[in-house]
Amino acid sequence: MKAAVSPMTHSGYKLARILLTEEQIKRRVRELGAELGRDYADKRPLLVSILKGAFIFLADLTRAMPIPHELDFMVVKSYEGTQSSGTVRILEDLHQSIEGRHVILIEDIVDSGLTLEYMRRNLETRDPASLEVVSLLDKAEARIVEVDVERVGFTIPNEFVVGYGLDYNQLYRNLPFLAVLDPEQV
Ligand code: IMP
Repeated sequence: MKAAVSPMTHSGYKLARILLTEEQIKRRVRELGAELGRDYADKRPLLVSILKGAFIFLADLTRAMPIPHELDFMVVKSYEGTQSSGTVRILEDLHQSIEGRHVILIEDIVDSGLTLEYMRRNLETRDPASLEVVSLLDKAEARIVEVDVERVGFTIPNEFVVGYGLDYNQLYRNLPFLAVLDPEQV
């Protein structure tokens, strides 16, 4: 949904427009949490979140999942500014084995697919009982490699977005909605 006001300022940031409102995100995250709660009842899944971008999505999703589940985190780096660097580096790994576990990988956004392809392959080698990917956002048009994403919050156009945990050079993460970055800020 494109907001009428353009460009705009929020929390001291200059933005081109709001792409997804706080309310739209909240509603969709609640749906995803309920679905996961149904599909993983009695499986005690492990939610693996990729920091930093997915931290707000995870915080809302975990509270929307009404079943026992665990959380763990990985820190990976694939981007510099608005460009994928093409290589993925694991800066911090999981704190436990995932062998035999039902793993749900929580992503903020799938863009080229390079990060996710690497992560899927990496986690599969650790022999989980199952692995699925939940991504809040999918920039399907930007895909460079084919990669499975089992659950998507929203499919969005191929524009650089910020807010709700997503950054541009470490800023904008605190916006409660998702916005398109003002091109003049890049
Ligand atoms: P991919 O490897 O190109 O699929 O990019 C995945 C990662 O790049 C995401 O987990 C984000 O951290 C970052 N990223 C990709 N597109 C955007 C964007 O539009 N805004 C902010 N971060 C992005």
